[in-house]
Amino acid sequence: MCLPNNLKDLHTQQPEELRFGSCLLHRGPDWMAGLFSKQAAVYAAARPVYPKDLFTKLAALTAHHRLAWDVGTGNGQAAIGVAEHYNSVLATDVSKEQLVHAVPHSKVRYLHTPNATPGEDLVTMLGGEGSVDLITVAEAMHWFDLPAFYDIARRVLRRPGGVITVWGYNYRISPVEDMMTRFFNTTLPYWDTRARHCMNGYWDLPFPFDDIGLGREGDPANLDMEHDMSFEGLIGMLRSWSVVTMAKQQGVDLLGERMVKELEEEWGGASLVRKVTFKAFLLAGTPRADD
Ligand SMILES: C[S@@+](CC[C@H](N)C(=O)[O-])C[C@H]1O[C@@H](n2cnc3c(N)ncnc32)[C@H](O)[C@@H]1O
Repeated sequence: MCLPNNLKDLHTQQPEELRFGSCLLHRGPDWMAGLFSKQAAVYAAARPVYPKDLFTKLAALTAHHRLAWDVGTGNGQAAIGVAEHYNSVLATDVSKEQLVHAVPHSKVRYLHTPNATPGEDLVTMLGGEGSVDLITVAEAMHWFDLPAFYDIARRVLRRPGGVITVWGYNYRISPVEDMMTRFFNTTLPYWDTRARHCMNGYWDLPFPFDDIGLGREGDPANLDMEHDMSFEGLIGMLRSWSVVTMAKQQGVDLLGERMVKELEEEWGGASLVRKVTFKAFLLAGTPRADD
């Protein structure tokens, strides 16, 4: 496929060729890419894998299975699940570092979309209007410029039959809710305000699409994600939180020795592996006829 000049195929471009500016899908300048790039290697190892039946459920919602777009793909956590059900997946991210750690898959094409990428180019890259059967945004939606992103989503989704689905998870992890809440409270002064939607479980996330029975604006569906987690895995996951990077940039180590010791005691010891459940939340919809 011939791509617009400023959309760089990760596997053919060198870092010095990557450009940064201010993006339509992006509220800040270079900030977001930097925030997730710094912890990209930790992120790849630490984040939960999404359940297979989630992708089966999502695939059943779309009329066709030609192309999916995973936006804010990170290391491809959602893209590789989606690829089991679609002919091909375009997986895009503003952070080149995140993509460097992405899981390769024969049906997934990872593309770095620098934050200077105009919306028009994104539409062309995706094959034009009405080309995309499923859009997935996993744990990334709250960082986007929502009106700009929704405008592109409405344009590229197939009509009828195209579906957009967004989901997230936060510090609510069972059965260690109390420990997580205590740690979360120490992070409060450092969160970017955009993360508010995620902390609120997407209850207040604007989502102007028609309801298709799997979470809607103001009423997200519950998505329980089970995970076997070691203490090392827990600390790795907390280190991959953007707020930990943000605090560090201000000279504060939220996961200093003392905090790690406290967490270890509450967890039940450094060698304990626990079965935990992330209390995730999800919204799905299809473009409104009059949009
Ligand atoms: C918390 S990570 C989620 C990664 C992955 N989807 C997952 O489920 O683990 C958020 C990702 O969104 C990316 N991101 C943030 N703003 C973006 C934007 N405007 N366009 C594309 N990607 C963006 C970040 O670089 C980061 O990789």
